Amino acid sequence: MINLIWAMTDDYLIGDGAVIPWHIKEDLIYYKEHTAGKTVLMGDTTYYSLKGYYKKRPLPYGKIYVASLNKDLVLADAVVVNDVEDFLDNYQEELWVVGGATIYALCLPYADYLYISFIKGKYSGNKYFKEVDFKKFKLIWDKETKDVHYTLYERA
Ligand SMILES: NC(=O)c1ccc[n+]([C@@H]2O[C@H](COP(=O)([O-])OP(=O)(O)OC[C@H]3O[C@@H](n4cnc5c(N)ncnc54)[C@H](OP(=O)(O)O)[C@@H]3O)[C@@H](O)[C@H]2O)c1
Repeated sequence: MINLIWAMTDDYLIGDGAVIPWHIKEDLIYYKEHTAGKTVLMGDTTYYSLKGYYKKRPLPYGKIYVASLNKDLVLADAVVVNDVEDFLDNYQEELWVVGGATIYALCLPYADYLYISFIKGKYSGNKYFKEVDFKKFKLIWDKETKDVHYTLYERA
């Protein structure tokens, strides 16, 4: 089962350089509740950004897969995936894809569930989620707060 989890504005903005353009504590808590201890896949840009944030503390996941085209890359706390599509073609377990833009785009065709936090308001940045064809998914849960519309979509 492949889950994608991300936060974006209505115009699909997800990042600014290597960072997220907003700091919304309730969404961070929501993200952590879903991904803590789980097997995750992320791109190397997102990985290094998280390593910078957590510094010497371990990243709060279970098994970590990091996507990189660099065949020489070795990481102490993660397994490097050189070909995301080949990896997903053969992957059978529960997986949480946690970014960033490049890796979400590669993984979207494989997604069973989309956990999308729609961030209200306007932010600036330069990283966008590839457009989602919502005709291919059905909304199965949502919850609205002042700052965020949390949604869960299942592949139709
Ligand atoms: N809003 C959210 O929920 C959210 C969540 C996570 C991240 N983000 C944002 O997303 C942005 C980062 O996205 P990004 O696209 O720059 O980086 P990314 O997706 O984290 O990583 C991209 C890297 O993946 C590797 N890669 C590319 N194609 C590949 C393939 N076919 N197989 C294996 N590896 C492959 C390349 O690494 P090499 O260069 O090493 O080859 C590439 O540089 C940041 O702004 C971050 O804040 C937002």
